[in-house]
Amino acid sequence: MKQVTLQPLNDHVSIKTEANLLEALLANKLDVIMACKGRGLCATCLVHVTAGQEQLTPMTDVEKRRLGRITTTKNNSRLACQARVMGDGVVVEVPEGMYMESVQDLMALVGRRAEQDILNPISGEVLIAAGKLITRSKVQTLESLEADILELRNKSSDRL
Ligand code: FES
Repeated sequence: MKQVTLQPLNDHVSIKTEANLLEALLANKLDVIMACKGRGLCATCLVHVTAGQEQLTPMTDVEKRRLGRITTTKNNSRLACQARVMGDGVVVEVPEGMYMESVQDLMALVGRRAEQDILNPISGEVLIAAGKLITRSKVQTLESLEADILELRNKSSDRL
């Protein structure tokens, strides 16, 4: 077993050696949408590794390509579903904000202010910033994004 620390919660999680970081997030009941079902194609399991990067398996080409397209990638970013834990001392920080799951969910929030950043599950960019009013027109402009998310999910199911 190996220990992983999740920030900003400062929770310590034990996971099996060679298990991926996604398991550490899920073990801590973090709500990870996994829009691509762990295939390395979306941004919803993006984490920033603040310590112990050398204890993770190196990036695969799929992960490198995907991270290259996520707008919020930093030098220490990894996709939790692709990075396997080989040693102790890995510390990861989960990006703040909530990923958009469906236009319908957002429609229910029209007229309210976003409590946290609402993020694009494919590119990681902020769609509606925390504190901003969620308007009907803003949500309607996200309809094409919802179609992209559905397509991604379908593609991921086909490939399983
Ligand atoms: S769950 Fe989609 S990239 Fe990890």
